[in-house]
Amino acid sequence: MALSIKQIGRCFASEVTGIDLSRALSPDDAAAIHAGMDQHAVLIFRGPELTNDQHMAFTKSLGAIEHAIGTSLREAKDNRLSTDFADVSNLDRAEQPFARDDRRRLFAIGNRLWHSDSSFKSTPAKYSILHAHTIPSKGGNTEFADMRAAYDALDDEIKIEVEDLVCEHSQLFSRGKIGFTDFTEEERDRFSPVRQVLVRRHPVTGRKSLYLSSHAGGIIGWPVPEARIFLQDLAEHSTQRQFVHSHVWRVGDLVIWDNRQVMHRARPFPDAEPRDMRRTTLAGDGLTTAQQ
Ligand code: OGA
Ligand code: MN
Repeated sequence: MALSIKQIGRCFASEVTGIDLSRALSPDDAAAIHAGMDQHAVLIFRGPELTNDQHMAFTKSLGAIEHAIGTSLREAKDNRLSTDFADVSNLDRAEQPFARDDRRRLFAIGNRLWHSDSSFKSTPAKYSILHAHTIPSKGGNTEFADMRAAYDALDDEIKIEVEDLVCEHSQLFSRGKIGFTDFTEEERDRFSPVRQVLVRRHPVTGRKSLYLSSHAGGIIGWPVPEARIFLQDLAEHSTQRQFVHSHVWRVGDLVIWDNRQVMHRARPFPDAEPRDMRRTTLAGDGLTTAQQ
């Protein structure tokens, strides 16, 4: 069966059928997925459930991976998964949901703020590839906002204002927004801010997008409160319902999103229930401040 891509969101997000992700991708299928990502920014594959090895093999057939080392509060000894995976579950090493006040849980629920993965790294992520192994009885959707459509809908005056702005991104900023400030000296050092342009241009399609993220906490050359309000206003604009697609998970779903073109956020779910989501990430290709 030939690979087919059908749009299901209002202006983006598409479902892919006619491909078996548990087997090595042909170069044609890999090219079709990249072309689909360039256009639709979010691609959804409905099952079957993959092993970690299959998930990783699929990821590597699309490009070089970004490792998930030092980006959460999980210590190596607590890891359920290898450092090639971001463990987006609410589970500890014994596969039990974290206690309500566990700091690893409280840090991780920062994913409920709109963000772009690894925008706090100097070379941020390209694609994220999230796979559902266990889902809660309700809630736990993932929402996506089309930052190209959001950019296109800005007033001309604002387009001019944002064009050359550079922001500072750090997980200290995103967690500070939800009142999580309980960081060790080592963590503060590890999470020190990096610079990202506010307007990105897609290297293939040439489309511009607003590169926002909860991690953005300042604009170079601007007073902090003015920068924060400005970024907050842009985020509100960008996440109006007409720019958003909400994914309702089934076990075995695999969703790929382009962090250069969309923001995303997790939605709440009953905290005593397991939600086992595992993510691989494709590395970006350099500093955004060096984009052409
Ligand atoms: C992620 C993420 C959202 C979710 O995997 O990067 O933010 O719904 N996930 O788990
Ligand atoms: Mn994320």
